[in-house]
Amino acid sequence: MTEWKIICPIHDIPVLGSRRVSRPVGVAVAVFRNSRDEVFALLDRCPHKGGPLSQGIVFGTSVACPLHNWTIGLDDGCARQPDEGWVPKFACKVEDGQVMLDAQELATHALNLAAPRAGPGVATAGAIA
Ligand code: FES
Repeated sequence: MTEWKIICPIHDIPVLGSRRVSRPVGVAVAVFRNSRDEVFALLDRCPHKGGPLSQGIVFGTSVACPLHNWTIGLDDGCARQPDEGWVPKFACKVEDGQVMLDAQELATHALNLAAPRAGPGVATAGAIA
């Protein structure tokens, strides 16, 4: 049986906006609300180069990444053509005006994906001579 964790009242998420839910381990989860008061949850990490989807523009059942404008489906986490890739989605629901996420998924899902890092001091092991 699913254990649901209350995240916030739905009105705490702006219409066509999002709220970021931090986790003790792993990348945060972005919870989105569209114009029909539908709520969706995706890992806050664009499948392109890791941009923060929580800062993107929500339209319909999609979000446009703020970095390079890829469109990601909120309902399936998939990039829209011609782009390719996907981001993990999370089960969520609204009950009595409260947004809820699956507690088990929140604690265990997609923990292997690291937050993106950028800047002049960042290098991968293969890039160091
Ligand atoms: S990081 Fe999202 S479109 Fe490039």
